[in-house]
Amino acid sequence: MIERPVHRASSFPGAPGPATGAPVPGLGVIVMAAGVGKRMKSKLAKVLHTVAGRPMILYIVELAERLAGAGVAVVVGHQGGQVRALLESRAAGDRRTSRTVIVEQAEQLGTGHAVLQAKPIFPASQRERPSTFLILNGDTPLLAEATVRELLRVHETDKATVTILTAVLEDATGYGRIVRSNPVGDNRPGLLDCRVLKIVEDRDASPEEKRLREVNVGTYVVDGGFLFEALDTLQPHNAQGEYYLTDIVSLAVERGLRVSTVTLCDPDEGLGVNTREQLARAERAMRQQIRERWMDAGVTMRDPATTWIDAGVVIGPDTVLYPNVALEGSTVIGEDCVIRSNVRLTDCVLGNRVEILEHCVFREARLEDDTTLGPFVHLRPGTVVRRRAKVGNFVEMKNTDLGEGSKANHLSYLGDTNVGKGVNIGAGTITCNYDGIRKYRTVIEDDVFVGSDTQLIAPVTVGRGAVVAAGTTVTRDVPADALAIARVPQVNREGWAARRRALPTDVKRETSNVNRKDPSGRLTPHGSRLTKTRQPVAKGKVAGGKGRGVKEANG
Ligand code: UD1
Ligand code: CA
Repeated sequence: MIERPVHRASSFPGAPGPATGAPVPGLGVIVMAAGVGKRMKSKLAKVLHTVAGRPMILYIVELAERLAGAGVAVVVGHQGGQVRALLESRAAGDRRTSRTVIVEQAEQLGTGHAVLQAKPIFPASQRERPSTFLILNGDTPLLAEATVRELLRVHETDKATVTILTAVLEDATGYGRIVRSNPVGDNRPGLLDCRVLKIVEDRDASPEEKRLREVNVGTYVVDGGFLFEALDTLQPHNAQGEYYLTDIVSLAVERGLRVSTVTLCDPDEGLGVNTREQLARAERAMRQQIRERWMDAGVTMRDPATTWIDAGVVIGPDTVLYPNVALEGSTVIGEDCVIRSNVRLTDCVLGNRVEILEHCVFREARLEDDTTLGPFVHLRPGTVVRRRAKVGNFVEMKNTDLGEGSKANHLSYLGDTNVGKGVNIGAGTITCNYDGIRKYRTVIEDDVFVGSDTQLIAPVTVGRGAVVAAGTTVTRDVPADALAIARVPQVNREGWAARRRALPTDVKRETSNVNRKDPSGRLTPHGSRLTKTRQPVAKGKVAGGKGRGVKEANG
């Protein structure tokens, strides 16, 4: 396997990374991720759908982990095993994630019920319990850390019991509406006496309430003493028969407790992904943010709109990306690289000054400094291309190490192969690494010259400095500095072509139609006259001689 990326976002000056403020003391965070996501009409749980190459839930859980001073609870349910496996798979080596506890919501009875499932993981005594809880929907991947910190700040300065994040939308369909005491005009907060009274869900809203455009984003700050006690009193008296978390708002209002709000400037940030259409919108917005961050960090994009960069990608300054480049997964790219159009890199590591020409697909490959690849190269997992090596058109490599300064420039398959330094792999070289049952390695040592159209039947080793003649099938190890040649000797039949041209057209056609086999099934040459001109092969006269055998198609 290839080594994991050596440089992280922070190793490039000005490289974008998540805004990392300090965790908030006494803050417990609860992330709701148990829902089915019915409106997605998917076999996959909604929170596992990806946005910019990462499962949606990771954005919000990692935001939670950056903020929580007093632990994170993630409530899982539908496909909970998969969500748990995803969250646990990234825990290794990260201290923050080890304080994240996964809680099961066996039956999805609503968001209020979901939050209640997290109660046992926080200390029971008022004194030890988090003083404040932040509650997050698992389906709002665009939510920014700065916004949540502002929500926490307002909650504290207002001495509120519940503080909710809201957004004003053109089309509020599907969202819970913020009902205020004085819904004037477009119901923007900041008006005299515009206290929040309650949140009403879309399905429960009256026609008048449906017209309200201020919505609940699904991000709440709640007083630690109030939260679970309020949740215990919830009733599922609504259109969906669910325990709504949003009902804690009217509960606080009834008790004369303060409910505050913060409204998003950019409503997109609060986008809740319920449908495929909203998933596409989240994807578009996230990718735009990612591009802007990398351009800020010194990356050139010839056509940003068609440049696809996953959230986990790192790119060095002065690298140039041409149209239709897709950088996926945990790909890391060094400085001063040039990546031409229609290239897809997945989980690859590139050094500096790497040039990739058009139409290449690489996965889990590592390219060292000053390498040149393409056009039309396919690199599969475990491939390493060492410094200054060159890989040209229509070359496929898998689990192969191409040594420093070596070249494989045309039409080759190299699988399970170690190629040393300064090696020339001729056009059409194929490693036959698979016998139908097992795979074997090919070793080509330093300074070997492999002629064109060579097959290497693995396991086999070509010793240092050896030459393999064009057209050879290498079945045995080749000693260092030797010539290996294995070919059917050539036969030249003097005048054969001219005699064939001279045949009457109908005879030519007839002979070419029937010449493969005679009725007895025996192979026949092209017509009886030609049979007579066949020459016996003169033994020892064809092979070798004046270097003809090692001529390569093109250096
Ligand atoms: C919720 C809010 C709505 C708000 C919207 C913002 C409620 C009742 N409504 O509605 O006011 O405008 O988010 O996007 O809260 N979940 C569970 N367990 C459950 C049900 C849901 O964990 O039993 C999780 C889901 O996985 C999801 C989140 O809670 O991550 C929100 O659930 P969803 O069904 O999407 O709620 P909305 O109808 O969007
Ligand atoms: Ca939702």
